[in-house]
Amino acid sequence: MFNKNDFGEDFTFGVSTAAYQIEGAFNADGKGESIWDKFSNQKGKILDNHNGNNACDFYNRFVSDLEIMKFLNIPNFRFSISWSRILPNGTGTINQNGIDFYNRLIDKSLELNIEPWITLYHWDLPQELENRGGWTNRDIVGWFSDYVEICAKNFGDRVKNWMILNEPMVFTGAGYFLGVHAPGRKGLRNFIPAVHHATLCQSQGARALKNILPKAQVGTTFSCSHLEPNTDSPKDINATKRVDALLNRLFIEPSLGLGYPINDLKLLDRIYSYFKPGDEQLLPFDFDFIGIQNYTREIVTHSYFVPLLNAKIIKADKRNVPKTLMNWEVYPNALYKVLKKYDAYPKIKKLIVTENGSAFHDAIFDGKINDEQRTDYLKSHLKVLLKAKNEGVKVDGYFVWTFTDNFEWAEGYYPRFGLIHTNFNTQERTIKQSGYWYKQFLQFS
Ligand code: FCB
Repeated sequence: MFNKNDFGEDFTFGVSTAAYQIEGAFNADGKGESIWDKFSNQKGKILDNHNGNNACDFYNRFVSDLEIMKFLNIPNFRFSISWSRILPNGTGTINQNGIDFYNRLIDKSLELNIEPWITLYHWDLPQELENRGGWTNRDIVGWFSDYVEICAKNFGDRVKNWMILNEPMVFTGAGYFLGVHAPGRKGLRNFIPAVHHATLCQSQGARALKNILPKAQVGTTFSCSHLEPNTDSPKDINATKRVDALLNRLFIEPSLGLGYPINDLKLLDRIYSYFKPGDEQLLPFDFDFIGIQNYTREIVTHSYFVPLLNAKIIKADKRNVPKTLMNWEVYPNALYKVLKKYDAYPKIKKLIVTENGSAFHDAIFDGKINDEQRTDYLKSHLKVLLKAKNEGVKVDGYFVWTFTDNFEWAEGYYPRFGLIHTNFNTQERTIKQSGYWYKQFLQFS
């Protein structure tokens, strides 16, 4: 039978979450406003005008949620810290209640033998900092480093595993270029400085953490897309190269000392106008691991209608392929390809799949949720991961996205990604069949 033993003793299994998507308690106990609090409460931004004000109420229910995690034999829990719960204005006065909450969460996890993995930034910038320019203001490098130090000092005695940023391409691309995520800003003049400052925070945040916690395992995570050209025409192949530079190489290559992939993505030229002397030396950082986050493959075609990039992605519903509620193709081999791709960078020491999962319609019948599609999705992705590992890819962990159904950003509560069903009216949790499957998969020793 296929189970965790096939992956060897040291392989890490877990579940991943993010503060804004689960915590709720958006203004409790001194928490400050974040860009997602503001954005999701504006009309027309989120599907059906949902907001994350209450989400899964994890802030008040973490004890019972962790007990379910324990029941499911899940040994590692990735969660993020809400910056504005710790520093309501982003800088300055610390909100002790926020520190206390994460201390309770960490202590309870450890008490249950669940290892905490902290993401320092999963998209919920304090609104006060956005008012001062947010990611487009270079001062964010100092604001972020100070916040990281506070987290390291308060939680580092018990937390060994840290991730600096979650998917910088998504929060800069969706938040500062397309305007579909918080803070809803658009255009290259916002995107390019946001990219440079996020890349600086990626390495400077990691340095700040390592200075205080030299023994910590420090990583950072990337959205990794497996791309294929629509046809083998040179136009489609070149379009795919440009999209690859943008989606896959933009943030990781500077951290590996390779600089920004400007040769393959001319629109990045102007990034140099945001450089200060010495930046080249600041961008690289020797991460202990790289977090790979993959859900699907993308098919790329040349397009004259998309300015600058001249490329577009053909969504799953236009291709007649199996898909999830996100309109993402179910294509397990994408994870295999992505692992191979990142493994080929000689300077990467270790890969951990920090997110992978799927959203489907999960109907409850007789109190049960038979989400076979999700179980199949997880199994098939774990199988290709094992294949990659057996071929020598240095991958060492896998975290399911996600534990309970939660607030899925611009899609609101519609796509359910959880191993556990959340009733958002009553906050009742129901373990799905996929959750029981994971429990069984993890139970062998
Ligand atoms: C990733 C995000 C995560 C979640 C999944 C579905 O891009 O990191 O918060 O929304 O997608």
